Amino acid sequence: MVKRKTCIFISGQGSNLKNLIFRSRDKNFPITISLVISNNKNAFGIKHAKKYSIPYSYINSNYKNYENKILLNLKKYKISFICLAGYMKIVSNFLIQKYRGKIINIHPSLLPKYKGLNTFARILKNKEKKTGCTVHYVNEKLDSGNTIIQKKFFVLNGDDEKILKSKTQKLEYKAFPEAIIKIFRNT
Ligand code: GAR
Repeated sequence: MVKRKTCIFISGQGSNLKNLIFRSRDKNFPITISLVISNNKNAFGIKHAKKYSIPYSYINSNYKNYENKILLNLKKYKISFICLAGYMKIVSNFLIQKYRGKIINIHPSLLPKYKGLNTFARILKNKEKKTGCTVHYVNEKLDSGNTIIQKKFFVLNGDDEKILKSKTQKLEYKAFPEAIIKIFRNT
């Protein structure tokens, strides 16, 4: 199997990155992680890239044209697929057009509900009975591209933001690899 050279974009903890690194070491998993890009110099997730000798690049998103730098890096490593794994920056039309249909994102809610930030607080405030995570394609509208996979759980009495995050992330570690397998299943 030819593994797709993939770049993972992160901003923080990188627990999804770590999970994908493990999964991608399986010879039957459809991607290899060739590059990690972070817009946060201090992202803990960079440590995972270092530990597993994956090239990584910090790109300061405060600079004008920073996405040009991103694109140069993607070209350098011949990247053909991108996973946003806790990347807390909106990808602009510039990159979306260059990688149309080849960028996916994981989001901690059952989209189309709770796009954007602070999902867990809003889920609790609205007394939702169920929540979960969504892996979806990235298009020009925030958190609005086609869904690839969703996973759900019931919100229990006493669940607070921390508990919701932890339950959601447990599902994310299943959903993200499953979505990637689904995308490349018949190719
Ligand atoms: C994940 O739970 C992901 O769903 C969320 O950030 C977390 C990153 O965790 N993404 C978003 O909220 C995107 N809007 P990680 O850095 O430990 O993988």
